[in-house]
Amino acid sequence: MRSHIIAIIAALSPLVMIAEDKKFEPNYDESLIPDYALPNPLEGVTQAKQWSAKRIEWLDLLGREMFGVIPKSFTDVNVSSLISSPDKTILNGRGKLRQLTIHLAGQDIKVSLFLPANASAAAPAPAFLGYNFSGNHSVFNDPDIELTNSWMRKKKDNRASAEDRGASSSRWPVERILTNGFALATVYYGDVDPDQDDGFKNGVHAQLGKPAPHEAASIATWAWALSRILDVIESEIVEIDATKVAVFGHSRLGKTSLWAGASDSRFALVISNNSGCGGAALSRRKIGETVSRITHSFPHWFCDNFDHYANNEDAMPFDNHTLLAMIAPRPLYVASAEEDRWADPKGEFLSCLHASPVYKLLGTEGLPATEIPQVNQPIHGQIGYHIRTGRHDVTDYDWEQYIKFAKQHLNP
Ligand code: GCU
Repeated sequence: MRSHIIAIIAALSPLVMIAEDKKFEPNYDESLIPDYALPNPLEGVTQAKQWSAKRIEWLDLLGREMFGVIPKSFTDVNVSSLISSPDKTILNGRGKLRQLTIHLAGQDIKVSLFLPANASAAAPAPAFLGYNFSGNHSVFNDPDIELTNSWMRKKKDNRASAEDRGASSSRWPVERILTNGFALATVYYGDVDPDQDDGFKNGVHAQLGKPAPHEAASIATWAWALSRILDVIESEIVEIDATKVAVFGHSRLGKTSLWAGASDSRFALVISNNSGCGGAALSRRKIGETVSRITHSFPHWFCDNFDHYANNEDAMPFDNHTLLAMIAPRPLYVASAEEDRWADPKGEFLSCLHASPVYKLLGTEGLPATEIPQVNQPIHGQIGYHIRTGRHDVTDYDWEQYIKFAKQHLNP
């Protein structure tokens, strides 16, 4: 009897999967967007001096209801770091490569630092800090970049391979970054927490424990570790000006850079590249990826409380413009791609627009536009935005804008 039931369930499961897929059929039609009203990020705030208390309210709310708050056990962990390989000259003398290993909650987190040749304690460089998807060795083709031992998605035996040296270099224009006077610090996100729904048994969660429904899931953990890396930069890397670190991320790592920048105001500038649902895009538009879809496909990214808003966006006491508003008045850049409809470019733009009143109250120009610009027509105010031609990716065009924007705001 039992075997019959198992056989029936097995036979039905492909149908169940098809039904699930049907349930998640994305909408791309603007005319089908439901009417919605956004929460006012400035509710009850009329003066700039009231904002810092309001910002904490939003931080607590998005912490408890979306990303998960960092529990006390996280703040008690020891952070230590060591230089794991001596400085190496790269790019015909235009830069230096230094590698660090940070020990954090039982994990070895490898940081590759690319420093402009002339950066020094007397003249520290501003920097970009961002996670990579495929290991530090994929960012820049150098035989000395250490391979991570951490679990890696889409790889044979889930292991990093030397064959992938430089494989993601189109997303990381190291030479251009360095010759414009910036340093780059990059880290493989899987060194912190493997990107899999593993019941929080791996990465820093293995030591810190399974999160309660309001506690930090993977995105919050990745964001928290970015702050710990910034601690190390502040205390140990004299060639980087820690007051001028721009946090950068693409896609799920763009969601992460936004939450890192929103939670830790030491990040001087924040960049979201194609972060989409759960990042810069407004959830209430329900275009492309939705809350229901993302919590179903990636249950480990957000805290369990976020599940309450699947197909229930109007009940959200926030939307993602409040995530952006928490970064105010610091410079913020949001970038979309025309073909990346899954990430809802227009929703990313509207989020910037609706965060803008907070920037304005704090005495900055906010986003100097009211309509989404034409493709490849960037807007650079205190909030920067562009939609470029092409697909979901990080391109030279994106970096051209980020470097220009960061120069304008961080003056290297
Ligand atoms: C998926 C996911 C997105 C995410 C993206 C990425 O497409 O649905 O939310 O941004 O992966 O991180 O590459």
